[in-house]
Amino acid sequence: MIAIPYLTALTTYFSYGLLFAFGQLRDFFRKFTDWFSSNNLQGYAPICLGLEDFYIRRLYLRIQDCFGRPISSAPDAWFDVVERFSNDNNKTLKRTTKISRCLNLGSYNYLGFAASDEYCTPRVIDSLKRYSPSTCSSRVDGGTMALHAELEKCVANFVGKPAAIVFGMGYVTNSSIIPVLMGKGGLIISDSLNHNSIINGARGSGATIRVFQYNTPAHLEEVLREQIAEGQPRTHRPWKKIMVIVEGIYSMEGELCKLPEIIAICKKYKAYTYLDEAHSIGAVGKTGRGVCELLGVDTADVDVMMGTFTKSFGSCGGYIAGSKELIQYLKYTCPAHLYAPSISPPAAQQIISSIKVILGEDGTNRELQKMGFEVLGDNDSPIMPIMVYNPAKIPAFSRECLKQNVAVVMGFSSNPAIVGKGTYMHICISYQGRPGEGLGGKLVISRVGDLVGIKYFPAEPIKQEQDESLKKLH
Ligand SMILES: Cc1ncc(COP(=O)(O)O)c(C=O)c1O
Repeated sequence: MIAIPYLTALTTYFSYGLLFAFGQLRDFFRKFTDWFSSNNLQGYAPICLGLEDFYIRRLYLRIQDCFGRPISSAPDAWFDVVERFSNDNNKTLKRTTKISRCLNLGSYNYLGFAASDEYCTPRVIDSLKRYSPSTCSSRVDGGTMALHAELEKCVANFVGKPAAIVFGMGYVTNSSIIPVLMGKGGLIISDSLNHNSIINGARGSGATIRVFQYNTPAHLEEVLREQIAEGQPRTHRPWKKIMVIVEGIYSMEGELCKLPEIIAICKKYKAYTYLDEAHSIGAVGKTGRGVCELLGVDTADVDVMMGTFTKSFGSCGGYIAGSKELIQYLKYTCPAHLYAPSISPPAAQQIISSIKVILGEDGTNRELQKMGFEVLGDNDSPIMPIMVYNPAKIPAFSRECLKQNVAVVMGFSSNPAIVGKGTYMHICISYQGRPGEGLGGKLVISRVGDLVGIKYFPAEPIKQEQDESLKKLH
């Protein structure tokens, strides 16, 4: 567990409690006004019900200007954020014609390929002219172009597997592949903080799902042993197959998966391993080949390697890489391959080109820690969650950063290690920025952190070089 100062924990709980209590009170009075103004619901139940709706109305809407900010340029190192205003206490936001040029710490454009690139962009434009924005067909009909075959070969080589299959969307890759691989009588053991696309894929598969504690191999082993001993529900027959699903870098926590330990356990209990590398492929490893390269894991030991092209490659879509037999089987059976349009040709070209120029580099979050922030995640990870904790500090922090031309992503964690389901600010480092900009951005964060009081630890003295970066930012 992360130990946070007692006062911070207390004020965080108090702040959430206050928001919840006032929200409930307002809902209570709203029921009366609705009852009087109601023009008869004709027997229908309200379409939006439950705690999620309560959260949106009573918490989110009040600070919604901190989320979903419209962007009017490419997700480059600097981008244009469209300014908005509200006349009704933030219930609705209207766009203005004003633009703020901000340092971009909010996109997953880890290697900068999503912005104009001297190698990739001309090739993408050529592919757009030669093919079209869409194939208008599924892969098995008229949607397989020379580019798709080239892309699959390129991806398989890059990740170190014999074959690969690509899809038009990363989310769909997980949510449609898992049900093809697993079904009734199967057991999926999923990390508790896996991405929603994995959760939906696992739910849609009909397999039994068990969850192990976030990135904890010892608990994975416990769950595996217990489940193998118990077998299938009611019949207690042995499981038809078992699959363990983990992520290479956890998207919200920024931590690397304990892959070598997890693989060893999977081998011991004869369970398949499914690795989602959405955030690690391209971003980590000496040559950008992901967590296997970084942690010295043989890719032959990972049965299903999944990844997306939306992050490091600056494109869209997802892939599955594995044995030739596995990929062939998926090509015959996966609905996203059979019925959905294939990945757009310019998007495919962008991936091919970016793979050709990828160079791996490290991001580091140590500067932020030295400044007194509580930073989660691993050193090699480009995602850096900085704990804000108190919900009241979200709008203060987000709005102040925007004023100082730095765009950040705010979020809520479901990580049980974070007291009171704390709030964090999420920054994404791209290698595209000019020298000093990343550091300059961190110094703005540091200044705003001082202002709103989210430095929960003593800071180390600031260096001369950092002062220079801050001057460059303004
Ligand atoms: C771990 C993980 N898997 C899958 C996806 C879905 O990928 P995409 O955004 O490319 O659809 C994401 C999205 O961020 C993710 O974080």
